[in-house]
Formats: sequence, structure tokens, C-alpha cells
Amino acid sequence: MEKKTFYITTPIYYASGALHIGHAYSTVAADAIARYKRQRGYDVRFLTGSDEHGQKVEREAEKKGLTPKQYVDEIVAAFQNVWKVLDVSNDDFIRTTDERHIKTVQKIFKRLYDQGDIYKSSYTGHYCTPCESFWLERQLKDGCCPDCGRPVELVEEESYFFRLSKYAPRLIQHIRDNPEFIQPVARTNEMLNNFLLPGLEDLCVSRTSFKWGIPVEFDPRHVVYVWIDALSNYITALGYGSPDETLYNRYWPADVHIVGKEIVRFHTIIWPIMLMALDLPLPKQIFGHGWLVINGDKLSKSKGNVVDPIPLCSRYGVDAIRYFLLREVPFGSDGAFSNEALISRINTDLANDLGNLLSRTVSMIDKYFDGVIPAPSLPGQEDETILSLAKELPSRVDAQMDSWHIPDAIGEIFKLIGACNKYIDLTAPWILAKTEEGRERLKTVLYNLAESLRICAILLVPFLTSTPQKMFLQLGVPASRQTLESVAFGGTEAGARVQKGEPLFPRIDLQAELAALASESGATAASEPEEKEELAPFKDEIDFEDFQKLDLRVGEITACEEVKKAKKLLKLTVRIGDEERTIVSGIKKWYSPDDLVGRQVVVVVNLKPVTLCGVESRGMILCGSDPKDEKLAFVTPSSPLSSGWVVR
Ligand code: ME8
Repeated sequence: MEKKTFYITTPIYYASGALHIGHAYSTVAADAIARYKRQRGYDVRFLTGSDEHGQKVEREAEKKGLTPKQYVDEIVAAFQNVWKVLDVSNDDFIRTTDERHIKTVQKIFKRLYDQGDIYKSSYTGHYCTPCESFWLERQLKDGCCPDCGRPVELVEEESYFFRLSKYAPRLIQHIRDNPEFIQPVARTNEMLNNFLLPGLEDLCVSRTSFKWGIPVEFDPRHVVYVWIDALSNYITALGYGSPDETLYNRYWPADVHIVGKEIVRFHTIIWPIMLMALDLPLPKQIFGHGWLVINGDKLSKSKGNVVDPIPLCSRYGVDAIRYFLLREVPFGSDGAFSNEALISRINTDLANDLGNLLSRTVSMIDKYFDGVIPAPSLPGQEDETILSLAKELPSRVDAQMDSWHIPDAIGEIFKLIGACNKYIDLTAPWILAKTEEGRERLKTVLYNLAESLRICAILLVPFLTSTPQKMFLQLGVPASRQTLESVAFGGTEAGARVQKGEPLFPRIDLQAELAALASESGATAASEPEEKEELAPFKDEIDFEDFQKLDLRVGEITACEEVKKAKKLLKLTVRIGDEERTIVSGIKKWYSPDDLVGRQVVVVVNLKPVTLCGVESRGMILCGSDPKDEKLAFVTPSSPLSSGWVVR
């Protein structure tokens, strides 16, 4: 039978600077999904690449005295190295400077022009070079780019435009008919309410003010500008429009485009409209993930807070970094990066829970049964929890991965690991070893531990790239029992020989490591500031009954806008269960409306309504802040919860 195909893509990364750990997050998440699908028997195609054109690249190259092509060649070689180091298993790497891409983009542009979807006009707008974005007067923030806050240039030039509005009704219908199309679902409402329903403006798709781009074939003063060039990569890489369309026919439409939340808009509006205009099928899903943030800020070169993933990998190991990225950030929401968080994850989950379990299990089999895995002999009550967890684990992981809840899928595996550690404490093998009957029971205990670890190793294969193999080796698991087909409980063969090895993840002394990082110039990871702060004194004690009067709930922000004339306020629409309500919050200094939609927050829902700057606010969103009110962040669930759930 022919295998089912699965086509997954990451964004193509701008070749205007080095990749950082935030980019690594995006690609490692896509890699985990690709590996997961391969393990489930799919014929997977996983694409990543580089987005190499634009004025910013042209200027950066000039500053360095290089041609744009020389400049991007160096950058792209570095990109490819990062993916190699992180064990990213992409099947192809598309460069927008590839001949295969350029030719097809030119054809696409011409076809859209010939059929009247692209027309020539002139453009006046404010251009932000670092973001490569045009903004209308009303979109500017204090006269600067609303995304990065930097100054913009006023430009007027002849341009080609793409008639987005023509296809909007069809797209709205498609989005409504296909709830899976935009994920997480909160981003669907954002796209509909903020962009599609208010009406689309036609999109500027060519520039004449710089040269570094794909020339418009029939009007070579123009180069194709940004999105038609960039988005087409997903099909040009499959040979669409080339003499050999085999890959295109096999893999298109894509099963999922993984993208960061700030480019969901381009992928769910411009891209489907381009495809509609070309009469091609739409991708099945666009998944918008959150950002990895440091001290509440997105990583960016201009903020000087970028973290290079390569030194981190050499310091802590590739699997430790992959684990952190995949486990720490609830998929779809933002997650924080810091040295402390990284080292704690390594110590708690990898060294203590997983590493210890393996080394204790292997050592005990070594000590009590000369390194040979015993056949189970005497069952006991304590077995029930781990047996049921181990048996259900594959389907629990699948249930989480069906909706790309990667951290929760890994969390399921670590529930079994945690239960196994408890099982050792409960059964106390060192006591069992002392009596004849105890030794019979000990055989079962050690078999169950080895078998649970084998199952965990199989299920960790999509996420960690060398650890499962190390586990198989230490547990003496033959190749035939390392596969998903053999995941059912009982696959470990009694009589197999374990092989004690190095600890999987050595424990890191947190304080010593932080001190070492701080003393090294260009420390590898970001750290929280150490300055001692004067904290507000604790308030008087209250009775539990008083606390219970507060009704705290999980809410999800579905829309957000500024409150006119108010310096500090944002007006948020928050969904709490079936209800949507307006909450006004004084958080404008820390968050822009675009950052907020889709976020989960904790809401005090039973506060009496108040009217702020003419807007009635029903409830309050919980935030934490420093004593000087310089830094502020929402309180948010550590993994997504259903909106309306009680917080206690
Ligand atoms: O947007 N955390 O390229 P890009 C998580 N070329 N993800 C992050 C991140 C962070 N701190 N910083 C960046 C582009 N990303 C276009 C895409 S696709 C046809 C064209 C993610 O290099 C970001 O959200 O600026 C985006 O998905 C990806 O890195 C590429 O960003």
C-alpha cells in the first residue's frame, strides 16, 4: 500500500543576519513533527530555507563590501550549519536565489499580471527598512514603525499591486468552512476580525528603489517584492511550474506550514489568495506558534538580546537544547528563555528524572541479576500505575500530537518516567533483594522498569536525536524492539544484557554554572538582572473565606485595541468559557495589541465593572511586575487550559 504523504514547512529565514535560539525554536518544533510523522509511517517531506532578497540584505552587503550574493552565501552556509548541529532532518533547503525558485516566481508574477490580478499603479507609504514593511500614516506609532519602533522613510514609487480584495469573500468562506485551517483557533478570529472582515487593501508586490530581488520579466525596472517571492518557496521547492512536477504532485497541498505568530497574517491571507488566483489547492493548515522571549522581549539583534544556539549545544548537548525548546514553550503561546530556566530543565527533567531512572535501573539489574534482565515473576499492587501508564502512553502521545501539543506529548512520557521513579521508592528493591521471595518480586520490578524505559525511548525518538539510542544501548534493546511497531508493553526480552554507560545528562551545579557564564565574555545565554530590589511588604493575612470570594478564571484574549486618548490603556476582548467580555487594562507600555491575541491569561471575573476612559471594563487581568513598574508580564498557565476553568 502506498504511504500517506505529509508535507511540513518552516518559514524561510531572512538571510540578513545570524540565526538565534528563537529561530531554532521554530525549526526544531517543525523537525519534531516531521520526525513524529516519519515514525508513524508517513512519507514525509520537510522543507526549510532562506529568504534572501530585499533592501536590507542589499544594504548589509554593501556595508561589508560584498555583493549581495556573496553576503547571502556566507549567511546561508551558517544557517545550514545551525540546522546540522541541531539535528534538523529537513529533506530540502530552498534558497530564494535558487534558479528553480527565481524562474517559477517570474512565471507566477506574469500569470497573475496577465489575468488581471496584478496591476500597475503608484505607491506612497512609510517604509521600515529593517522590517521590510510598508505602513500607512494611520498605522505608524508616534511616527515610527509600529513593529520595531524605528524611524520610517516616506516613499512614493511606481509599483505593481496584487488585487487581494477580489478573493477575500472566497477566503472568508474557506476559513469559516475549515476550522482546522488556522491554528491555534484564536488566531482565526484575529485574522477574520482584524483583517479580512474590515476589508483588504491591495498589496504592493514590486519595488523599483532597490535592485536585489527577482526581476519582473516584462518590466525589469521592477523587482518582485517580498511576499510573492517568499511565499512561493513552498511550491517552487517541489518543482511547481518546472518541467518536473513529480514532487509537487506528490506532496502539495502542504499538511502544515509552521510559522511564527507575526507572519500568520501573510500565510493565511496573502498565501491562500495567491494560490486561489493560481487555481491551486490551499494548504491544509497554518500553525502560528508563539515566541521565545527573554525578560519579556522577543529576541532581536537591535535589542542586543540574541542567543546563539551553537555555543549552547556545545555546552549542554544538542538533546538538552532540543528538549528545552520543545518542552518549555507551550506550543502556540510565548515561552521564556533564561539560563536559569534552561539549567533547571536539564537538571530536573533530564538529569534527575530520566537520567537517574536509567542509571538506577541498569545498576540494579547489574547488581542483583549480573546484568541480565530477569523475566517477570511475581506481580504486585504497585505495578498497576506504571503498567497502565505504559500501556496507554503511545495513544496519549498521539492524542497530544494530533493537535501539535508537543510539550504535552513530552509531558506524557515524563509522567511515566516520574511514576517509575516513585515505583522504585515504593517497592524498595534493595530490601526485596534480601529475601528469596523478595527476589522473585524484584524480577518483576526490574523488568517493568526496563520495559517502561524502552517504551519511553521509542516515544522520545521524534524529540531527542541521540538520547533514545543511548538508552537502547544501555538497556540492551535489539534493533527490532526499537521501533514503534514494538512499542506495546512486553517487548523487552528477558535474558537481554544491559550495559552500564555514562550518565545521559550530567547534573549541572546551577550557581557555579551561572557564575561561570557571567564571568565568560559573551556569555552563551541570557540571564536575569541580579540587582537587589526593594519588594513591597506583604499585606495583612486574610481568611480563606475572603480568598474564596475571588473568582479567578482562565481567559483567552480574542481581540485587542488601543483605548483612544488613553496613554496606558488597552481594550481587550477576553473569552471566558462561552462568554466574551471587555476588559480595560493599563498595560500599553508593555504590550502592543498584536502581541496579545491568542494569549491565555488569568482573570478576576467577579470585580464590579468600572468605566475607564469611556469604556466599561468587566474584570481584571492578573500581571506580575517589579517594584518600579518597569517590567510587567501576564500570569499565564504553564500549559494551555480551557478558557473558563477555575484558577485556585
Ligand atoms: O519572517 N521565537 O523571516 P524571519 C520564536 N522571511 N520564533 C521566532 C523568534 C523568537 N524569538 N524570532 C523569530 C521571516 N522567530 C520571513 C518568512 S516565510 C514565507 C517568510 C521566527 O527570519 C518568526 O516568528 O524574520 C518566523 O516564523 C521565523 O522565525 C522566521 O523569521
